[in-house]
Amino acid sequence: MLTSDILTRAVETLRRGGVIALPTETVYGLAANCEDELAVRRVFAIKGRPATHPLIVHVARASELPSWARHVPEEAWRLAEAFWPGPLTLVLPRTARATDAVTGGQDTVALRVPNHPVALAVLDALGGGVAAPSANRFGRVSPTTAEHVRVDLGDEVDLILDGGPCTVGVESTIVDLSGKEPMVLRPGGLAVEELERVLGRKVPVRASATVRVSGSLASHYAPRAGVVLSEPAEVMSRVTSLRARGHNVGVLGPPGLTLPPGVPRYDVPEDPAGAARALYTRLREADEQGHDVLVACLPRAEGLGIAVRDRLSRAAAPRPAGG
Ligand code: TXA
Ligand code: MG
Repeated sequence: MLTSDILTRAVETLRRGGVIALPTETVYGLAANCEDELAVRRVFAIKGRPATHPLIVHVARASELPSWARHVPEEAWRLAEAFWPGPLTLVLPRTARATDAVTGGQDTVALRVPNHPVALAVLDALGGGVAAPSANRFGRVSPTTAEHVRVDLGDEVDLILDGGPCTVGVESTIVDLSGKEPMVLRPGGLAVEELERVLGRKVPVRASATVRVSGSLASHYAPRAGVVLSEPAEVMSRVTSLRARGHNVGVLGPPGLTLPPGVPRYDVPEDPAGAARALYTRLREADEQGHDVLVACLPRAEGLGIAVRDRLSRAAAPRPAGG
């Protein structure tokens, strides 16, 4: 999957201030050396993301935590031990190594060890941290294949590493451990139930976040078509009434759904992990067919279904004019 030639090129590119697309198990990241401020700024420029929105620092192993976080509570070690490498991001008080460019000037830093052999090989060879937001334009659907990155950002990145389709398919779960009580800032690829099992207590999911957590903006992860959410039992009536009003409708949902003849269905499986894996690819495919409305069938609100429902709600949220 990764030849030593390409690995060398990737690390050299990062060392000289370049920006590369890096596969992870969640989504593809747009990666720059954390300690190169100009390179980090280029990531913001390519994404079109406001500079105050902080980035996640990706590292090769949990033992690097103390060089980025000035206080690593016992619960952080426990979560790192249980879930890293994996789809979990920890927010901790930062050290000076986590610069303002990366943290958006906040006193905390987000850290994660991704579970992908290509990402781990690059991080290991670089011997440092890589700042990597999802490799999509701000507000749009995150990429889960190298081809998605090529289509979205093509020539603007110095190198695209192809690590195959992402196995998790939605972004990492972000847990804030910098305050008195742990809190989930973004549900994601690690089920909240799993976190709670390891911590031995309930972990609340923050309902509405500050504007700084861009994945928490009301409208985000959005395809071009409008998105309408529906419980499985109501899909048929929703589709029928939208079509009666003249809309070109597509449906995101599992194979068992009954649909009016001629309405295309884009397969998002019923099981929550399968839905997470398929979601972004199906949103893109459906979007390419030129529908003006996509009816999205909601998965059960458990396990990764919570993250899928979260992303679908943001895709369905009203958008700012021109956004
Ligand atoms: O799975 C993922 O997390 C992917 C892959 C590439 O690792 N990355 C990703 O990055 O989703 P991005 O930038 O699209 O989302 C990172 C989220 C943002 O919503 C950001 O605001 C939040 O993490 N974040 C970063 N640093 C933070 C901090 N210090 N406090 C609170 N939130 C933070
Ligand atoms: Mg993102």
